[in-house]
Amino acid sequence: MNVRRLSWNHFRNLRAGEFEPCAGVNVIYGQNAQGKTNLLEAMWLFTGERSFRGAKDAELVLQGETAAALRMDFWSEGRGQTAKITVAEGRRTAELNGIPKGACSALTGKFCAVVFSPEHLSLVRGGPSLRREFVDSALCQMKPGYASLLSGYNRTLFQRNALLKDIPRHAELMDTLEIWDERLSQFGERVIRQRTAYLKALSEPAAGFYAGISSNRETLSFVYRKSAEDLRRALAEERREDVLSGHTGAGPHRDDVDIFVSGLNARAYASQGQKRSVVLALKLAEAELLSRMTGEKPVVFLDDVMSELDARRQDYLLNHLTEFQVFLSCCEPGAARQMKSGALFRMEDGALSAVPPA
Ligand SMILES: Nc1ncnc2c1ncn2[C@@H]1O[C@H](COP(=O)(O)OP(=O)(O)OP(=O)(O)O)[C@@H](O)[C@H]1O
Ligand SMILES: [Mg+2]
Repeated sequence: MNVRRLSWNHFRNLRAGEFEPCAGVNVIYGQNAQGKTNLLEAMWLFTGERSFRGAKDAELVLQGETAAALRMDFWSEGRGQTAKITVAEGRRTAELNGIPKGACSALTGKFCAVVFSPEHLSLVRGGPSLRREFVDSALCQMKPGYASLLSGYNRTLFQRNALLKDIPRHAELMDTLEIWDERLSQFGERVIRQRTAYLKALSEPAAGFYAGISSNRETLSFVYRKSAEDLRRALAEERREDVLSGHTGAGPHRDDVDIFVSGLNARAYASQGQKRSVVLALKLAEAELLSRMTGEKPVVFLDDVMSELDARRQDYLLNHLTEFQVFLSCCEPGAARQMKSGALFRMEDGALSAVPPA
């Protein structure tokens, strides 16, 4: 899978322009606030997902204009395809190979990508919900039934919690709790099984990418940490506490993923560069698993990844991700000097220009 050509009109600060990236590594450099992330965001939208910046649609249109338009020519499923996105009246609509598709989510699965942006560092630094979300969103993409399994779990959890809050006033409801416990543990155990299996599959490619990024000097591993060994039993044993708190204390909504760099818990011990490397390895491993399933290598967007990485780690990203088309933004063109092949672009005030090889 790769981007052949992108053109834009009135997308954020990108007025009108186009570019033809290479199939390998594309470095986009420029000073702060010139439009580098905007360009990556423009391409990312073709995945059909929300902006990785969590932007509202209206924010995507150049200030003072009423609509933004993007067009991407990309290679997928063994043929050239064209998709268009229009943002107008606070809505995003899409067209694929000349056929209007309505909402942009219709593009899901047509153009696949993974993205790293500095906000994703909270995957290591932040609380457990972000790690659960990482696993859940990967599973939603890969396992057709997972999204409905997860929403079944969440619905049941919501109902059990509502019941917990009613029990103090209606003691007789205590007896109905058992039914919810049974249902919740059935959903919950399936969620846990799927998440554990996904992490197991992820660990080999993630360890491989991490070894590459760290020049084999460090290791990456992780384990799924359950909030209760036996969910059914925990629900039964903790009923009293649950009624008092009005919340369900055990279950996949409380589970976490423990990440280790060379055996030490990354959240507590990893350095800035190691945390970056962990998130990168996880994202690349996610891309790798996705590609094993679809037969297509997703495009890799690395926004502002170079800072805090030493020369060897930068070299890995510039020269060793040969299987993927990569878009990498950075402030200094100097970092790209180590790049052995690939293309260099400069972003200035929303205008992109190709920089010929030195
Ligand atoms: N809808 C919009 N209309 C006009 N300008 C916009 C719009 N949205 C964002 N911008 C401008 O785009 C610029 C930011 O672009 P972007 O985030 O891509 O910068 P960047 O090159 O990635 O910078 P950095 O290196 O700081 O990350 C800002 O000047 C911002 O005001
Ligand atoms: Mg940026």
